[in-house]
Amino acid sequence: MTNESLTRDVPPNRALIEERLVVWYFLASIAYLFISMLGGFLMAFQLIRHNPFNGIELLSPGRWRMIHTNAIAYGFLANAFLGNLHWIVPRLTLRPVFSRTLSYLIFAAWQLVVLSTAGGILMGEAQGLEWGETPVWIDPVAQLGLGLVAVNFMAPILKIKGPMYVTLWYFLAAFVWTFLTYAMGNFVPQYFVCGTSAGAVGGLFIHDLVGLFVTPLGWGSMYFFVPILLRKPIWSHGMSMVGFWGLAFFYPLQGIHHFLYTPIPMFLQYGAIVSTIAVEMVVLTVIVNFFGTLKGSSRALATNLPIRWFFTGMVFYAITCAQCALQTTLTFQALIHFSDWVVGHAHLVMFGVFGQWLLGVMTYLFPRLLKTEWASPKLCEWHFWLSSVGLFTMALDLTLAGLFQGWSWAALQPWDASVEISQPFWIVRIFAGIAMFAGQVLFCVNLWKTWQQSPLNKASLKSEALPA
Ligand code: HEM
Repeated sequence: MTNESLTRDVPPNRALIEERLVVWYFLASIAYLFISMLGGFLMAFQLIRHNPFNGIELLSPGRWRMIHTNAIAYGFLANAFLGNLHWIVPRLTLRPVFSRTLSYLIFAAWQLVVLSTAGGILMGEAQGLEWGETPVWIDPVAQLGLGLVAVNFMAPILKIKGPMYVTLWYFLAAFVWTFLTYAMGNFVPQYFVCGTSAGAVGGLFIHDLVGLFVTPLGWGSMYFFVPILLRKPIWSHGMSMVGFWGLAFFYPLQGIHHFLYTPIPMFLQYGAIVSTIAVEMVVLTVIVNFFGTLKGSSRALATNLPIRWFFTGMVFYAITCAQCALQTTLTFQALIHFSDWVVGHAHLVMFGVFGQWLLGVMTYLFPRLLKTEWASPKLCEWHFWLSSVGLFTMALDLTLAGLFQGWSWAALQPWDASVEISQPFWIVRIFAGIAMFAGQVLFCVNLWKTWQQSPLNKASLKSEALPA
């Protein structure tokens, strides 16, 4: 790949895109990924009874578990998506965002929200809502931030006259849905409802956070990058639209599938099960569309690393869907509820699917943002393989752990027996985590080396200016 080809698809008006901000968002995203992984290790070591920080309140694994998940959702994923949006939206609309100053303000405010959330959780002020542990005093700021994000990106999109590319449909919906989802999850159970109603709203919040924030941004990004990378249109535009409306209609109905067998009325539980089955079909639209587009270009899997990241994400997506088909039945829930099967599933979705896609996007965009090729393609390969194999091992390991735990409980063995059975699986998880962590370390080393050779790096400019 030449430097010329790196800049070939830049639109005529370069000033459209605030590339520096895209870099900042990606760097912030990677930093939170590291913080999150450290939290994951702390919890993982606690579970194998080797917590090196036993007795230190600020390093208690319970609190760091919450930091682990919050840093993933609001630090790693949200920052990467915001960087992504700053790249994609001006290109598809041929207009800049509403305000650059606002963009920088949102960047700073968002980091403040994520860091204050971590600080609040460490101080023991977590809100009692899964995935919404953001302390109550931060919620209004986060809500305002999401409103500003919507304004900033929706302004150029709404100026489009005529048909809109499917990516923008997904993005538009994500801005509205994320705003509403956050408000519903963080304020309704806290101030307005209690008991099983709060549980039902909490379930809806957990699921909508994945389905109406991460999913439309992820799918929209795939519909943007895959045709560009493969240099051909998506296989079926109609199918992408079916996916959009299917997501809009069925996703918000299935939150209660997280709380099957609870006192929430059974008709709501059945409703959630039926709509989960419908969403299975909807998710297939994006998977089938990807493989349809890849048909005839499968050599790209060997030659084009970002496409390989996306492909692996799609394969993991298919596995996740297969898991969902089992999970959503009452029969299977009786076995795996509260077990590590669910934790394995969560890693598969969050890192295996959306994490892989976003790391693929970064692999594609960093050379364009830094105006130079990757310093070491070999390190890029290592990043990919360590992340993918590490994640797959972790997901498989936890899935099996979940089954053994479920069988142990079904056999009415004492709780301790299931903890003992889990030990080998929890040890394997540590090694899988080390592989994933090592992959990200190599990614950063490569990024640093690439920055060293970038024409944007003042130090490299200076050394070039020196006489030989
Ligand atoms: C360094 C590697 C990692 C390790 C060692 C690790 C470990 C853990 C542990 C110990 C838990 C708590 C499990 C429990 O409560 O029984 C957890 C939960 C979770 N982790 Fe990780 N993790 C790692 C990386 C990641 C990454 C990269 C992501 C996403 C991008 C992620 C997403 C999650 C999610 C979503 C949960 C919540 C699962 C649930 O509540 O069902 N983890 N992780």
